[in-house]
Amino acid sequence: KAHLTSRMLGQEIHYFPEVDSTNNEAKKLAANGCPEGTIVVAESQATGRGRLARGWFSPFGKGIWFSVVLRPPFGPMDAAKCTLMAAVGVNRAINRVTGVGCGIKWPNDILWNGRKVVGILTEMSAEMDAINYVVIGMGINANMKEFPSEIAATATSLALATGQTVSRVILLAEILAELENVYTLVQQAGFESVFAAWRQESITLGRQVRVQGFQRNFSGLAVDIDADGALLIKTAQGVERVLAGDVSIRYD
Ligand code: BTN
Repeated sequence: KAHLTSRMLGQEIHYFPEVDSTNNEAKKLAANGCPEGTIVVAESQATGRGRLARGWFSPFGKGIWFSVVLRPPFGPMDAAKCTLMAAVGVNRAINRVTGVGCGIKWPNDILWNGRKVVGILTEMSAEMDAINYVVIGMGINANMKEFPSEIAATATSLALATGQTVSRVILLAEILAELENVYTLVQQAGFESVFAAWRQESITLGRQVRVQGFQRNFSGLAVDIDADGALLIKTAQGVERVLAGDVSIRYD
C-alpha cells in the first residue's frame, strides 16, 4: 500500500495466499456492499478462470492475480467496454514500469512478441437497467520462468521479456493508477476517448485474423473497433462485426 498513488482503486485490499479465483472473492465482496475500488489479490489461485470457460495458470508468488470492484454509473450494455478500457490501463502501466513493448490483442490480451503476458476477465452483475457491480480480473505473468506444455508456445512473462525479476508491488500500484486514469476519463469523456488509445496500442488492427466462434468461423482483415468495442472485420462478403463474448481470434 505504500506504493499506491491511486485515490480510489486499492484503498481496500483483501490479500490471500491462496483463493479459488480472485474474481469469485471479489464478486462475493461486491455483493455484500464493499466500496468501489476494493481489490482482491492472491499469491496463487486453485481454479483461476479465463475467458470462454478456460482455466488460468496461477502459480504461487509468480504473478499478479487480482480483481478490482467497480460500480460504474453506466448501463449493462457498457460493461464489455470496461475490458477494453482495462486493457489500455494495464498495457500502459506495464510498458512504463518494465520498458517492454507490449501491445493489445483484441479484446483484452496483452501480448509481448506474439505471446500472452496478461489476460483480463470482466464479470458483471446488473439489475433492471443498472449495473450493480463490475469485477475486472487480471492475470499478469510477472516472474514465471516456465509454463505448462499446453501454453508453453503461447504464453510468456515479463521476467522472460526483460531478463529481470519484476517488482509485483510496484507494478500493481502502477496498474491501479493507470486503471483509475482511464476509468476517470471514460466517466468524464466517454468510452470513445479511451478507444482512441486502444486503437493506437492495438496489435490486431490491420492484421489478417481468423474468427473462431460457437456458430461460425471465418477470416478477414481487422479494420477497426466500433462504439460498442466490437471488432470489425472486412471479408469478401462485407464487414463482419464480432463481440468479445462470442469468439476468439487467431492471427493468420
Ligand atoms: C483470459 O485471458 O482468458 C482471462 C484471464 C483472466 C485471469 C485473471 S487472474 C485474476 C482473475 N481471477 C480469475 O479467476 N481470473 C482472473
